[in-house]
Amino acid sequence: MRYLVTGAAGFVGSHLTDALLARGHSVIGYDNLSTGQERFLDAARRSDRLRFVRGDILDSSTLRGAMKGVDAVFHMAANADVRGGFAAPRVDLEQNTIGTFEVLEAMRDAGVMRMVFASSSVALGEPDVVPTPEDCAIPRQTSLYGAAKMAGEGLIAAYAEGYGFEGYAFRFVSLLGPRYPHGHVFDFVKQLLADPTVLRILGDGTQRKSYLHVEDCVRAMLHIAEDRRTPGTPGTFEVFHLGVPACCLVRESAAWICDEMGVSPRLEFGTGNRGWIGDSPVVFLDVRKAMSTGWAPQHSIEESVRQTVRWLLGNRWIFDRR
Ligand SMILES: NC(=O)c1ccc[n+]([C@@H]2O[C@H](COP(=O)([O-])OP(=O)(O)OC[C@H]3O[C@@H](n4cnc5c(N)ncnc54)[C@H](O)[C@@H]3O)[C@@H](O)[C@H]2O)c1
Repeated sequence: MRYLVTGAAGFVGSHLTDALLARGHSVIGYDNLSTGQERFLDAARRSDRLRFVRGDILDSSTLRGAMKGVDAVFHMAANADVRGGFAAPRVDLEQNTIGTFEVLEAMRDAGVMRMVFASSSVALGEPDVVPTPEDCAIPRQTSLYGAAKMAGEGLIAAYAEGYGFEGYAFRFVSLLGPRYPHGHVFDFVKQLLADPTVLRILGDGTQRKSYLHVEDCVRAMLHIAEDRRTPGTPGTFEVFHLGVPACCLVRESAAWICDEMGVSPRLEFGTGNRGWIGDSPVVFLDVRKAMSTGWAPQHSIEESVRQTVRWLLGNRWIFDRR
């Protein structure tokens, strides 16, 4: 198969690209390198089945050119920064909603019918039901990022209905693992490298969050949207929640990070159980639907946090880039 991966030089996209190449597929990696890192594709570039196109998903002519001969699209490109949304409200609309529309239109133009979409637990706002299943009540959005991801899901569902697309939306909790470039572990390690005596934590540390290892996330997407799909089922759109069936307190995660770095800082907490507007105090997805397909995460949250710290300590160049 020939796949187009948008956001191929990013955290998730580069792992996905590696996994698709390892399965013997050809990959067109499409990325504007706004947050992506070329060195994340070092291993992939050794394969002659990777073609990298530096392009923007909003540039419809370059995107349409790259789409020729493609069998399916993994759409990972996005503005993945949730926190900055209200300071620049156009970014999520353009990058995440209109960007997804442009990818769908380029697919329609080229006759590519299968779309795998990186959605997010953030699109659920602050749900009433925890662990949160896929069929929870339509959420009240708490961030522009979440609103844009849910709009993206809506577009894919409509393209499935109106044009016979086969769509998969995966709502991930926060991901961890090698090449991790943003999020609380990144922030904590960066702070502790600068000053190992104090760690400032957004919110009061009682937030409960689930985390998933990026390799478990990629395995789930390939298992569900490639291995277990029924080919020739046009007009389908399915949502899957991806996470581990557990969560941890932010203060527990801080303790693992400090232990892994061998530091004992004074912990300074903020007030309230939200780190910023749009931060949900509890992120815990019901992942039984994904697990009923035979997929199961292989890394615990603690293992993922500790492995991420080790990767960051061995790859300090990333702190200059992000
Ligand atoms: N990392 C997480 O914890 C997490 C959780 C839930 C959902 N997601 C989603 O997964 C996807 C990947 O996230 P990530 O963590 O790998 O982020 P990332 O920033 O590492 O990767 C995004 C990639 O997309 C590229 N990109 C951004 N805008 C683009 C544009 N307009 N045109 C072309 N390329 C563009 C960037 O250069 C980057 O390589 C995103 O859609 C994100 O919203 C991530």
